[in-house]
Amino acid sequence: MWALSLSAREVEAVRALTNEIALQHKSVEDAEFIRHASVYAHELPQHIRQFLNEFKLLEPADGVCLVSGYPIDNTRIGKTPAHWKWKLDASTSLPEQIMFVLFGCLLGEPFAWATQQDGYLMHDVFPIEGNRYDQLGTGSEQTLWWHTEDAFHPHRADYLGLMCLRNPDNVATTLGSPDLSRLPAEQLDILFQPRYVIKPDESHAEKNESDLHKQDREHNDDGLLNSAYERIKQLNSAPPEVPLLFGARQNPYICLDPYFTIPLDDEAGAALNALAQTVDDNLQELVLQPGDCIFIDNYRVVHGRKAFKARYDGTDRWLKRINLTRDLRKSHGARGGCEMRVML
Ligand SMILES: [Fe+2]
Repeated sequence: MWALSLSAREVEAVRALTNEIALQHKSVEDAEFIRHASVYAHELPQHIRQFLNEFKLLEPADGVCLVSGYPIDNTRIGKTPAHWKWKLDASTSLPEQIMFVLFGCLLGEPFAWATQQDGYLMHDVFPIEGNRYDQLGTGSEQTLWWHTEDAFHPHRADYLGLMCLRNPDNVATTLGSPDLSRLPAEQLDILFQPRYVIKPDESHAEKNESDLHKQDREHNDDGLLNSAYERIKQLNSAPPEVPLLFGARQNPYICLDPYFTIPLDDEAGAALNALAQTVDDNLQELVLQPGDCIFIDNYRVVHGRKAFKARYDGTDRWLKRINLTRDLRKSHGARGGCEMRVML
């Protein structure tokens, strides 16, 4: 894995920069902050900028990079919340969230989904009691099966960022990619063909919208949010037929979420099973530590999480998550304008 451990001098430079930005913006959701974030990122130490830029341009096969060494003040960030809807740490972890966004801006532009975590750009990943058995980042008792983030959607992220605020039980993130050299040419051909449908995952389901968002939608929506949920329902009932591999034949990109994938014929099913076996055989475990930021190339690497026993006492594993796209223009029609960052 590509890894960069921040030096003491780099930590100080990052801290000074993020504290200064935090004086100007109350939240990373602030549209003005997001507009300026990629310029603020120019002020990060050159070593960090070079590291992330090379990860982006060289597209290493292992497809994950880690920036570690930033100390997290476990007291200042507060308890792990019981739900993400209140954004309780909007100010207490603001410098860390700013750092995470600035790192991400060296790879792409942050964006959000109207139908996921109430449309916030900065997601929270911690166990929620009501999601205990669900296939969600906020679940815990079930293995979160490996997947490409938002595999069902053509505007899915190029990179998925995860920043660890705490992980006292050393819960492992899983990471993997297929070994296509183990598959016969006929199965590779099939995987490049639109012989699969991928349904939306649970995180976009209307039932996982918060009550606050629901009330707001009922009283203030101009119709856009309702139609965003309608589109998810359509993608669930009539998902488009897609391939699971695309791009260069010798070094293809992947789009995999077997849990929500339906092969359209037996041969397609056998090819998916063969591919999935190669991922399972080499699935890696990474235990994120406080301050670790990883960026996962969502076109090359799948991710998931091991099952674990949640505490629900304010000390649970807590990650932040952002979606990054290399090209916002591709989703112009889905966002309703160049300044909008929320996919409808
Ligand atoms: Fe995910």
